[in-house]
Formats: sequence, C-alpha cells, structure tokens
Amino acid sequence: MSKQVRIGILGCGPRGMQMAYITNLLPECCVLTAMSDPDEAALQKAKEAFPGIAFYASSDALLDSGKADAVITEVPPAIHTEYVVKALDRGIHVLGEIPAVDSIEEGEYLWEKVNSAKAMYMCGSNPNYRAKTLFLMKLKEMDLLGKPAYIETEYVHGTGNKVSRENWRNAYESCRYCTHSLGPVLQYLGEEFKAVSCMSTYDRLDNGRAHNAMACLLHTESNIVVRFLTAFGLPTYGPQHTTKIMAEKGIVTLYNQKADLYLKGLNEFSSTNKLLEIPFTPEGSSRPMGLKIIDESTFRLGNYGHNGSDNYMLKDFAEAILNNKPSPLGIKEALAMTLPGIYAALSAREGGALKEIRYPWSK
Ligand SMILES: NC(=O)c1ccc[n+]([C@@H]2O[C@H](COP(=O)([O-])OP(=O)(O)OC[C@H]3O[C@@H](n4cnc5c(N)ncnc54)[C@H](O)[C@@H]3O)[C@@H](O)[C@H]2O)c1
Repeated sequence: MSKQVRIGILGCGPRGMQMAYITNLLPECCVLTAMSDPDEAALQKAKEAFPGIAFYASSDALLDSGKADAVITEVPPAIHTEYVVKALDRGIHVLGEIPAVDSIEEGEYLWEKVNSAKAMYMCGSNPNYRAKTLFLMKLKEMDLLGKPAYIETEYVHGTGNKVSRENWRNAYESCRYCTHSLGPVLQYLGEEFKAVSCMSTYDRLDNGRAHNAMACLLHTESNIVVRFLTAFGLPTYGPQHTTKIMAEKGIVTLYNQKADLYLKGLNEFSSTNKLLEIPFTPEGSSRPMGLKIIDESTFRLGNYGHNGSDNYMLKDFAEAILNNKPSPLGIKEALAMTLPGIYAALSAREGGALKEIRYPWSK
C-alpha cells in the first residue's frame, strides 16, 4: 500500500459529504477515491463537490471496484452492520459509523465477524476524539476527581428539519442513538453498563418510535449510576451535548465546547464555586478550531467537523492501517457503547422495566 489509504465513502447524505471533505483535509494519510449512493440527487451533489473520483449507485459495486482500501459507512443505521460485514468479507478496512449495530443479534454477528476478519474494523465514534473527552481523560489520569458516583449525560438536538418518517432520527427510538453520550462516559469509567431502565415521552409521529425525549438510568458493576437523556423532537439551538460527572473529590460539567471544574477543598470560598471555566472553542466561533487545554500533549488543532474530532478520528484510522497497528477503537468499545441503547429501547417499550445488558463476551 502507498502512503495514502484510498478511502471510499458509502452514503452521500450530510454525514457522508462531511467525511468526504475531511478525507480531503488529510492528504498526508488519505485520498478520497470513490463514493456511492442509490439516491440519484445525493449522488449528483457528491459528483459536483468531488470531481475526479469514482461514483456508484450501488455500494456493492463500489466494494467490488478495487478502488478503496478502506470505506466509511455513512448509510442509515439499519444497514451499518450489513455494509461493515460486506467490506470486511472483501478484505476492506472499515471505519464503521455509530451506532455500531441495530439489534442485539447484529451485535453477536458483528462481534464474530470482526474477530475473524483480516481487515480492520474501527468504531467511528468521533465524540471519543473531542477535545473535551481528552480533557476528561486527563482529569482521570491525574486522579483529580476520584471515584465517580453519579453521571448525567444528554444529547438534545432539535434539528429544525421537517419532521419526516424517513429521516433516521425519526425512524427509531432516540435512546438507541446513545453512542455520542455513552462513548466518552465509558472511556472515562473503564467499565461496562450492567442494567438499564428507560422511560419515553409521547411521540411526534405516532409511530411508537419518534419519542420527543427518552430518559434512561444505567448501572455499572461498581454501582455507579448514569442518567442519560436523548431528545430529538424538542427545540434547541443546535446540538446540545452535556455531561456532568459527580465524584468523591469534585464535579466536572461539560456543555458543548466548555467545561466547568469544581474541586473540593480548592475553591470552596469562591463566590461562583468554579475553579475553572475552560472553553474548547474560541469565543464567537462555533466550530472549528481546537484549543490548548492542559499541556502540550493535549493541544489539538482541528479545522472541520465536530470541532476537529472527525479529523483526528480519521487520521488515527488511516495511520493504524498504514502502520499495521491494532484498531484504535475496536468492536468491544463499539458494542459497549451501542448495546445499552438497544436494551433501553426494549425497556421503554415495557414502561421502564429493568433490563440486564448482555454483551457477546458476557459469560
Ligand atoms: N458521528 C456523527 O457525528 C454522526 C453525525 C450525523 C450522522 N451520523 C450517522 O451517519 C449516518 C448517516 O447520516 P446522514 O445524516 O448522512 O443520514 P441520511 O439518511 O441523511 O443520509 C444517508 C444516505 O445514505 C444513502 N443510502 C441508503 N442506502 C445506501 C446504500 N446501500 N449505499 C449507499 N448509500 C445509501 C441514502 O440515500 C442517503 O443519501 C447515520 O446512520 C447516523 O447514524 C453520525
């Protein structure tokens, strides 16, 4: 293989287009060679934006074309697994979009497939690459917060788009889109969720799926409780991602591109009770850019896509392929952050019944 991984993108919706732009920002390790979409209008838009590469109405044709060493699956969630497996079966590496799977059975299937594949699977969890997640991991490394007791994490995104049944946000329960919130929390905790109970509001489409909000309580083996909320049907000013970790030595609150840190004993006399307010994005610029956070090792510069996290994720993926390294974010992490949302949906359908979460590696 040359010094560039040849990237194919399956799906030319907003996310596929975004990842195509990001691929072009990383010529040191990637080159965009092909895109596919069965929707003519979506494919046409991609043709205009990325002249000179190959286009296919069928993703199977792209996978069989020999044009891509690796693909990114930017197709609707119900077919993520299908295309990850089709790529791996052809020896093509995959950056698999999140959520990783659509059902418990798919989780078992993907676990087996990825573990026996020669090509690499990486979980495309860009939130794990956000500056604020790195900040959390730095807090953990320095043991500034001590053992966490209770965590709240929310993803509230009133997209303002016309409510349509077809949009993936309306086609399934929002608690299943849990990876943005649970990915970074799991990385911080270093342990899996064992049980979940979830309750839902009325839904905006009367399809029993598009609930305006879903609230879950999750439990870990060491008795840490996590409250997790998703709401796609309520008005918000853009996507709101919030995480609050309440631990024995302090509290950290991450909201969008900022963090508040309160440490017991250090700032008890402060009038605001805040030791630090840390912005991850300069004032007035919603994105992109990265910021110096704690020290040089966590300095990040991103210039496109989810505050730079997409760039770093894709770079890590390509460099792992070029250097024959293990997947930076593997199938175990992918399923640990995806399956709790699927069990939560089952719980909500039964009015909040407590569900034990089983993983393919559970005994
Ligand atoms: N990680 C993130 O930050 C992030 C952000 C937004 C969306 N997503 C994920 O990305 C995926 C795509 O999101 P979107 O907003 O672009 O969705 P979308 O539904 O707007 O677009 C998906 C596109 O895939 C196409 N498609 C359907 N079947 C296909 C196939 N077999 N092969 C190729 N293309 C096919 C559709 O025609 C459509 O153009 C979603 O599944 C979602 O989970 C992730």
